[in-house]
Amino acid sequence: MKLAFPFTASLLALPAFAHGDVRDLPVTRSGSSLLLDGKPWKAVGANVYWLGLDENVTPPAGEPYYAATKASYPTKGRTTEIMAVIKALGGTMIRSHTLGVSTGNPLSLMPAKGQVNEKAFEAIDWAVWQARQYRIRLLVPLTDNFDYYHGGKFDFLRWGGFNLSRDRDEKNPAVQNFYTNATVVKGFKGYIRILLTHVNPYTNLTYAADPTIFAYETGNELTGPVWKDQDVPVEWVSEIGRLIKELAPEKLFVDGTYGVNKSHLAIKEVDIYSNHHYPISISTLKADLSLVTSANKSYFAGEYGWNRAGSTADADLASWLKEIEKSPAVIGDTFWSLFGHNVPDCNFVEHGDGLTMQYGNPSHAAQIQLVRQHFLQMSQGTAISADAALPLVSCPAPTSM
Ligand SMILES: *[C@@H]1O[C@H](CO)[C@@H](O)[C@H](O)[C@H]1NC(C)=O
Ligand SMILES: *[C@@H]1O[C@H](CO)[C@@H](O)[C@H](O)[C@H]1NC(C)=O
Ligand SMILES: *[C@@H]1O[C@H](CO)[C@@H](O)[C@H](O)[C@H]1NC(C)=O
Ligand SMILES: *[C@@H]1O[C@H](CO)[C@@H](O)[C@H](O)[C@H]1NC(C)=O
Ligand SMILES: *[C@@H]1O[C@H](CO)[C@@H](O)[C@H](O)[C@H]1NC(C)=O
Repeated sequence: MKLAFPFTASLLALPAFAHGDVRDLPVTRSGSSLLLDGKPWKAVGANVYWLGLDENVTPPAGEPYYAATKASYPTKGRTTEIMAVIKALGGTMIRSHTLGVSTGNPLSLMPAKGQVNEKAFEAIDWAVWQARQYRIRLLVPLTDNFDYYHGGKFDFLRWGGFNLSRDRDEKNPAVQNFYTNATVVKGFKGYIRILLTHVNPYTNLTYAADPTIFAYETGNELTGPVWKDQDVPVEWVSEIGRLIKELAPEKLFVDGTYGVNKSHLAIKEVDIYSNHHYPISISTLKADLSLVTSANKSYFAGEYGWNRAGSTADADLASWLKEIEKSPAVIGDTFWSLFGHNVPDCNFVEHGDGLTMQYGNPSHAAQIQLVRQHFLQMSQGTAISADAALPLVSCPAPTSM
């Protein structure tokens, strides 16, 4: 919301917001907590990585499809249904890679260096609009550490003159040029500018101005040449943070380094630090929290395997979720990962990583109950019983609540 005269803000803000639309308010940070409309707000939901571009469904003949990576745009109904599922689960938000990571293939936002594919915005615009309609917020990574179908840091390296790929070069020290080479950094910043200044025709708002996207994250699981080395230069995180705050002063900024790097704690642009838990680990969570709270910042468990405890896990799903509930500096969590039905056929979409949760799939029922209990506890302070009936979600789902 923009007020014509700043000095009237204190007079107008309260009544306008009290009777206005909470969707127009930004999520803000105070110390290690997040606030919405003056009240504590928790970011709980799922990773739904495919909202901007998918790799799991072969579209009907004639629809855009890039066979080499099986990339296609999700149908609108599929995106809408997942919003209804998040609501049914008691979630408040979604973390979605492909609303920000879209480089390097013909269906991407930036298929090749400097080229913009306007058609790729349609699926992103729709997802942002549907999230808004369902009062769901979005946390969006801006690139990826890897070279998957949706693109990542290697695209910017290649476009900046470094012929590197994940297959050959994941451990090549030259990958650090993504953070240190001025040409590469400029290319990445140019991409961010194109993304954030795009006007969504469903809202007439830029992504920068739309509070539905409450946070941008530097990237997904960013590392240096050694797996989980946390070697993401402070200067780079700060420079990307300054750009986000310049373009979108009300967005929260997430450090997408894989793990909490102690030397990043003083970066003033960072609101939220994050880690991914494969397997879930309360001891890692506690260690991360002691760092983050020392800086009076907040923490987000951006990914965790909901159905795979693993040999080194130190908790089961229930005790992991309870630990998060009793840790005030954890602003929330998103499990990996949620799929729904395709539309119009309304069959489940399958994804073969062993970590796919499908709402309504009887074999996931116990974990769905735990996750829903947790989301409602976090978002509303509501305790529900473990066998509370799950709300029905129709397929197709309506395009607004
Ligand atoms: C943390 O930040 C909050 C909100 O800005 C502030 O009120 C509080 O004093 C800070 N705590 C510490 C220990 O700096
Ligand atoms: C960045 O990389 C390009 C391509 O390899 C090179 O020409 C340029 O000198 C590098 N710039 C800096 C500042 O290192
Ligand atoms: C990039 O490197 C690969 C492997 O060394 C090579 O096959 C390919 O031709 C190179 N591409 C360019 C554009 O230089
Ligand atoms: C966006 O702006 C255009 C041009 O002013 C207008 O025709 C359209 O109705 C607006 N759409 C929304 C959703 O406000
Ligand atoms: C943390 O970041 C610093 C500064 O970029 C870097 O030198 C270091 O390797 C990183 N990793 C760890 C574990 O501190």
